[in-house]
Amino acid sequence: MFCPVDAFHWTSYLGAMSIKPLIILPDPILRLGSKPVERVDAPLLKLADDMLETMYDAPGIGLAAIQVGEPLRMLVIDLAKEDETPAPQLFVNPEILATSDERSVYEEGCLSIPDYYAEVERPATVRVKYVDRDGKVMEMEADGLLATCLQHEIDHLDGVLFIDHISKLKRDMVVKKFKKLAKDRQPARMVG
Ligand code: NI
Repeated sequence: MFCPVDAFHWTSYLGAMSIKPLIILPDPILRLGSKPVERVDAPLLKLADDMLETMYDAPGIGLAAIQVGEPLRMLVIDLAKEDETPAPQLFVNPEILATSDERSVYEEGCLSIPDYYAEVERPATVRVKYVDRDGKVMEMEADGLLATCLQHEIDHLDGVLFIDHISKLKRDMVVKKFKKLAKDRQPARMVG
């Protein structure tokens, strides 16, 4: 997820990692359902660190593994502001256990749908179960931007994008625009 207000610069504290190419709308990969992670091991943590670097570079505040082409149920979030110490969080196999009746509206963006923003209404508070970096099962109650960000990223694990929560008219316009952009990026084909 990209939030224009909370975006901050990548800082080099995380060491040797690599930026991965982002999967962009209308790539059908974004519509895949992701598989549960079986164990939190070194390769998985390397992927998590690469996702963080990719997210900081963008810059964004949340990223799901499928957005770098890995159909695994994991996501990273860091809501620290530009002038704050980075606070990366890893959520493996996250599950929403409960949501509040109270709703809130945030202007959302997505690193897979660059430069498009729209207001989305979602439950204001969520209770989430997940596995952390140490492989421990955790539960967390989130509200505010974290609640929105978690719901946005968990949606990605089921192939759902934030534009699925806006009107069909607006969504069709965005998809059409990104289809055209993708077409324009394709090299001209040889004929004959
Ligand atoms: Ni997104």
